[in-house]
This record gives sequence, structure tokens and C-alpha cells, in this order.
Amino acid sequence: MRLLVLGGTHFLGRHVVAAALDRGHDVATLTRGLTGQPPEGARALHGDRDDPAALGEALDGWQPELVVDTSCQTRAAAEHAAAVLAGVHGYAFVSSLNAYRNWPPGPVGQEDAEPTWDTGDDDYGPNKAHAERVLSAAVGPTFVTARAGLIVGPHDPVYRLGWWLDRIARGGRVVVPAEGLDQPISLVDARDLARWLVGMAERGQGGAVNATGPVGMTTYGGLLEVCRAVTGSDAEWVPVPEEELLAVGVQEWVHLPLWLRQEEARTAWDVDTTRARRLGLGSRELEATVADTWAWMRSSERPPVPAHRPAPGLPDELEQRLLAAGR
Ligand SMILES: NC(=O)c1ccc[n+]([C@@H]2O[C@H](COP(=O)([O-])OP(=O)(O)OC[C@H]3O[C@@H](n4cnc5c(N)ncnc54)[C@H](OP(=O)(O)O)[C@@H]3O)[C@@H](O)[C@H]2O)c1
Repeated sequence: MRLLVLGGTHFLGRHVVAAALDRGHDVATLTRGLTGQPPEGARALHGDRDDPAALGEALDGWQPELVVDTSCQTRAAAEHAAAVLAGVHGYAFVSSLNAYRNWPPGPVGQEDAEPTWDTGDDDYGPNKAHAERVLSAAVGPTFVTARAGLIVGPHDPVYRLGWWLDRIARGGRVVVPAEGLDQPISLVDARDLARWLVGMAERGQGGAVNATGPVGMTTYGGLLEVCRAVTGSDAEWVPVPEEELLAVGVQEWVHLPLWLRQEEARTAWDVDTTRARRLGLGSRELEATVADTWAWMRSSERPPVPAHRPAPGLPDELEQRLLAAGR
């Protein structure tokens, strides 16, 4: 079928293109053409989603039957897509757990029981929730919104897992959050999510789905252990109590990627994915995700972290200070 990927040149979108080509679809991508090309085999259409005329002009009569939307970040982008693509057979939209009013900190129960944002703020979560409503109203029952949690895998230009792989590979004494090691976390491999999104669009399966890995699939410490094994590193963990990390200015999520303080982590990773599991969202072995991410990081020129994102990782000065503090 004719499948349009809105996005398709960075991370998740690339894997969606690959999955759609693998399924034999006739694939086109729509991007501004500023930050990369889609994988070979897809036709690259160009236009800015924030421009009301761009999508229609770029399609130029090519009518997609299926859409996977990985690139929607603004209300305007959703509204323009709704105006042009309402008649498609299946539309799979990549939203976020941030669409929920109560996440973070969560927990997140079953999709229909959790309120989403309905305010006019120009913020990530409210924008995703607005986009879901606009597109769902236009497309109807074959609109599915995947409220994604943490997405990882090859081609991830944000390098949250990537920073840990680099740091652990370098070896030596590595600062880790003492209480965080036992904290359950969940993630979804971009390739599993991509294949599933294409399948959902093909089936015209609608609704809202918490699209992340099963609760308790691993722990923070378990993930770091896999990184140590995959990189063959001799890294030695230096557990630092949360109180001390916060006191010296270590930022959750950014300086120690994927780390949240206990109070928040307890509920933030508690997301009901029963529906995702029932609808066949896969969750490959964590070892495979980490090993493939590491292989990609070593084999290719790494794309830069997008300009609007903070570079992940513990600044050297903070690391030295924490390592020197009596340990
Ligand atoms: N990473 C996570 O852990 C996580 C968690 C939850 C949800 N999400 C969501 O998952 C999705 C993943 O994104 P991704 O970066 O991996 O997708 P992607 O489709 O691989 O890359 C984003 C694409 O959007 C295009 N783009 C950006 N602005 C555009 C515009 N105004 N008009 C047209 N195209 C535009 C970019 O190309 P050009 O720059 O060339 O235009 C690029 O191709 C996002 O929707 C994100 O909100 C991510």
C-alpha cells in the first residue's frame, strides 16, 4: 500500500521506513529536508508541516493509504495533516506519555481511565494531546495514538543510552546513583515500536496505547550491567547517594541519563502496558537492543544531538568531585 511517513530521517522514523519497506509498501517520507535523508527505497518528499499548504503540495496527487506520523510536535502540524489526510485507511501517530496530565510523575493506568492535557499551553505534552484529538476527530476509528515511553536503539541522536555506553566503555570508576540501581525501568526498542506502528496502520486498529516496555523488564542497575557486558568494560561502579548527587547539582535524566530521583522514579516507570502487549507490541531482549546500539555507535558517523536538546552526560568537573569525595 502507499504509506506516508511524516518524518523518517532521524531515529524512529528511519526504522518505520525500514519496517514499511520490509512489508512491501510503497513508501514516501515528508520532511523539510534539512537534517538528513530517509533510508534508500523511500521517496523523499519535502515540506514544512507548520506551513498549511506544504503537505498537499508535496504529495502532488500521490494519495497515501496509510500514515505513520513520527514528527508531529506542534498543533499546527497536526491540524494541517488532519486537513489533508483524513481519508486514509490507517493513521498511526507517535505521541508520548507526556500527553497524560498526570505523567510525570504518574503512575499511568489503563489508557481510557487517564486524563490527557486539554489546556492551550504551547508545551510538549499539551501539544501531543491536542494533536491526538484533532487527528482522531478527522481520521476516525482507524486512528491509533502510541503514547511512547523511553525509546532507544540504533540511530538514537539523543544518546541517553549512548552516553552510558561511551562512559562505561571508557572504564575505570563510574559514578552511579546508589538508590537508583534497583529501580525498575522500562524502554522500547525503536525497531519493535516501528514494526508495530506499521502493523497497526495496516490493520486500521485504532485507540490509545501506552507504547513502552513491560513494567519491571529491567532495573537501572540491570541496564548498566548490560552496557558493561556489551562493551567488555572493566568499569567499577561508584554508588553515590541521591542526596549527595542532588546537593552538588547533578541533574536527573540529563547528567545521569535515564536516572530519576526515587520519589519520582517510583511512579514514573509504573505504566500499564497491558493493551500494548495484547496488541502485539514486541519487546526484544535488552541485550540485543544495547549491543545493536553500541555496534551502530562504533560503526557509523554519529549524528549530532539535535540543537534544542541538552547534551547528555555527567560534566567532568562533577564526576571528579564526586569520585574524590572520600570514596
Ligand atoms: N525519544 C524518546 O524517548 C521519545 C519518547 C516519547 C515520544 N517520542 C516521540 O517519538 C517521535 C520520534 O521522533 P524521531 O526524531 O525519532 O522521528 P524521525 O521521524 O526519525 O525524525 C524527526 C523528523 O521530523 C522531520 N521534521 C522536523 N520538523 C519538521 C517540520 N516542521 N516539517 C516536516 N518535517 C519535520 C525531520 O526532518 P527535517 O529536519 O529534515 O525536517 C525528521 O525527519 C517524536 O514524535 C517524539 O516526540 C520520543
